[in-house]
Amino acid sequence: MPLLPHRPIRNRFLRAHHDLDSFPAASDTHFSMSTSFRHESVLAGEVNDFLRPAPGRTIIDGTLGGGGHSGLLLKGGARVIAFDRDPEALAHSRAALAPYGESFTAVEGNFADAPAALAGLGIGSVDGILLDLGVSSHQLDTPERGFSFQREGPLDMRMGNSGMTAADLVNTAEAAELARIFRTYGDEPRAIQIAARIVRAREKKPFETTLELAELIAAGRKGPRHPATRVFQALRIAVNDEIGSLERALPDLAGLLAPGGRFAVITFHSLEDRVVKQFFRARSAAEIDDPTWPAPRPNPDRLFEAVTRRSVTASPAELAANPRSRSARLRVVERLPSASGKGGAA
Ligand SMILES: C[S@@+](CC[C@H](N)C(=O)[O-])C[C@H]1O[C@@H](n2cnc3c(N)ncnc32)[C@H](O)[C@@H]1O
Repeated sequence: MPLLPHRPIRNRFLRAHHDLDSFPAASDTHFSMSTSFRHESVLAGEVNDFLRPAPGRTIIDGTLGGGGHSGLLLKGGARVIAFDRDPEALAHSRAALAPYGESFTAVEGNFADAPAALAGLGIGSVDGILLDLGVSSHQLDTPERGFSFQREGPLDMRMGNSGMTAADLVNTAEAAELARIFRTYGDEPRAIQIAARIVRAREKKPFETTLELAELIAAGRKGPRHPATRVFQALRIAVNDEIGSLERALPDLAGLLAPGGRFAVITFHSLEDRVVKQFFRARSAAEIDDPTWPAPRPNPDRLFEAVTRRSVTASPAELAANPRSRSARLRVVERLPSASGKGGAA
């Protein structure tokens, strides 16, 4: 599993957990919703306004989840090609969005692999792309998926069915690697101590369940947040290679955008927001500069015009209705009419 060497940065990891009870536009859409899958889309109206769904336009939803954003885009008349690694999300959303017929295609897989999947569908370019990063409330709230430090379940945390589980990681990684993961992806101040305690404990008995790990981390500590919050988030990010997928996907997905097409990304913590912000900035700047140059030069990698100068956050009304939208940040860029860039490395 690729674990990229990110510099530790301060972040608050205020992940909105998407465990909401309603579905955007559920009252005025004509498809029926299963009650077993709970997720409320964040910034749904803003995404819809920025991506401008309309007949004749094709939009990628890279993070289908409960299908809320896809449903709005389909309702606006767009064709939607959606991706998710999670078979449960796909099954739910395929059923919920079936009334849209051939306008909706759902593909199981990582959004980083969307370019190959689109080529297979004979689609060369698209008019919009949405990534609503992280995990869904359904995933977080299903104990068997192993994301929750408050509910007993297997220590799994995989969005899909393949790859290393969180148990594999905590039972095999060296203490230094665990500490790096906890610090880098969780900003965990006790990273080294927690990693050392995990390694000592697993010599007696390997970790199997969420509560075994959560209780070891907590070890009598109390506070406003559960002491295992940061470690669980860090493990989830590492197990699913979330930052690596995002870094790989951004340039490749950008290369799929038709001139005038828009790329919208919703992030929930500062690590992923920084990756998106830096990529969009590097590809939107008209000029680049270097202290050794006499003057700034035109940016040869320029691909986008910024649509949102600063990130868009939830309105007071959405925050009141959905406290878990508090950490959502939406950034949007538009592909230049004449851009010749192909995405490339950030
Ligand atoms: C926050 S939820 C998306 C919710 C969705 N926008 C909605 O309106 O219901 C994120 C979803 O994206 C999926 N996901 C996250 N990273 C992914 C990746 N790299 N490739 C494919 N799916 C991914 C997760 O499995 C999860 O179902």
